[in-house]
Amino acid sequence: MKKGNIIIKNAAQLVTCSGFSAKKGREMSNLSIIENGSVIVTGGIITFVGKSANCPPLSDFPEHTVIDATDKAVLPGFVDSHTHFIFGGYREEEFSWRMRGDSYMSIMERGGGIHNTMTVTRNASFEELKEAGRKRLDKMFAMGVTTVEGKSGYGMNKETELKQLEVMKALDEEHPIDIVSTFMGAHATPQEYKGREDAFLDYLIKEVMPLVKDKNLAECCDIFCEKNVFDIQQSRRYLTAAKNLGFKLKIHADEIVTLGGAELAVELGALSADHLLQASDKGIADLANSNTVATLLPCTAFSLKEDYARGRFMIDSGCAVALATDLNPGSSFTNSIPLLFALACIYMQLSPEEAVTALTINGAAALGIADKIGSIDVGKQGDLVILEYPSYKFLPYHIGMNIVEKTIKNGVIFN
Ligand code: NIG
Ligand code: FE
Repeated sequence: MKKGNIIIKNAAQLVTCSGFSAKKGREMSNLSIIENGSVIVTGGIITFVGKSANCPPLSDFPEHTVIDATDKAVLPGFVDSHTHFIFGGYREEEFSWRMRGDSYMSIMERGGGIHNTMTVTRNASFEELKEAGRKRLDKMFAMGVTTVEGKSGYGMNKETELKQLEVMKALDEEHPIDIVSTFMGAHATPQEYKGREDAFLDYLIKEVMPLVKDKNLAECCDIFCEKNVFDIQQSRRYLTAAKNLGFKLKIHADEIVTLGGAELAVELGALSADHLLQASDKGIADLANSNTVATLLPCTAFSLKEDYARGRFMIDSGCAVALATDLNPGSSFTNSIPLLFALACIYMQLSPEEAVTALTINGAAALGIADKIGSIDVGKQGDLVILEYPSYKFLPYHIGMNIVEKTIKNGVIFN
C-alpha cells in the first residue's frame, strides 16, 4: 500500500488515545488530548505529535501535504475488530420474520440463518465476493475505519473457506483499509455433517486449519461457542488445535446463552471474547484479570432485540472493552460507526471517551496489533480521521450521522 507524507496542523483537539496496549477499566477514560495540536506523518509513519506551537517549521517539509484542521477534531483511524464482511446474498426475509417474533436461533435451526448465507457464498464466484466486499470496505472507510477484521465461516468446507480468505487477501492488497483475517470454519455445522459436530470439527482441524496456516491466509481463529452450535468442550478442542498451529484466538462467547465462553477465552489466552451479552459475573471477573479484550457488538443486540452486554459493569470491573460492528447479513447487517457509538453510549452506558478508546486502541489490542495502530503516537502507522466538528463528543451525540470529513491511511488522504 502507498505510504504518504502529511502534516495536519491546528487541530482543535488531537485525540491521541496514546498507548501501546489495551486500556482497562478507568484507563479507558483517558484520551490524552492535545488542544491545538499537530501531527506529522512521513513515509506512512507518525513522526511528530504535539502542540502546534512546538511543531517544526513547515519549510522543513517541502514534500508534505498540509491540512489545516482548525475547528476540527483529529483521532486515530477506527478499528472494526469483528466483522463477517465477505458473504454472498442477503437475508431480508429473515429480518421480517424476526420482527414478527421468530428468533435468530430458531431460523438457524430450520436451516436458515448462517446456512442460508453458506449456500449462496458457496455458489458465489471469487470476483462476485470480491466486488461486494470492496463496496463494503469503501463504506467503512468513509466512516473512518482504517483497519477491519474479517472472518470466513460461510463456506464450512475447504474450498469456500479458502475462497473467502483469498478474497480478503486480494482486497487487503488492493484497498487502503488493512484487513486482519480470521478463520471461522466452526461457524455452524453444515447439513452434510448434521448431528456429527465432532466429526465436522475433526475435518476442520485436520484438513482445513493446517492449509489455512500453510497458505498464511489468516492470523486468527474463531468459533461460535453457543448452545446448539458448539459447546465449551468442542470449542476448547478446536481453539487448542488452532493455538498449537500458531493462530491467535477469538471466540463468539455467551451471546444467547450463558455457557462459559468468556472463561474459556481467558483460559486459552484468547485475544478477545466477543458478544458477551450473557457473560456471567465470573466470566467478567476473569476477563478483568486477563489480557483478553471484551469485544462488545451492540448493533447485534439492537438488531436481534436482545439485552445489551453489560458494558458499564465490565469497565467498572476493570475489563478492557472494544467495540465492533459485527457486520454480517443476518444478526447485524450494518457497518455503521455512528450507530455503534450511539448504542454503546445510550444503551451500554459507556462514556464518549470510553467508546473512543474501545474503537481505537482497544480494537487494535483485540487484533494483537496495538503496537502498530490504534493511537496517534510516534512510530505508529499514520492512520487518522478528521471530524467535521471540534470535539470527539459529537461522535455519539450526532446520532446516526457520519461526521468523518477525511480518512487518512498510512499518511495518504483518500477523500
Ligand atoms: O456474530 N453469531 C454468530 N455469527 C454472527 C452472525 C452470522 C450470521 O447470522 O450470518 C454473529 O452474530
Ligand atoms: Fe460475529
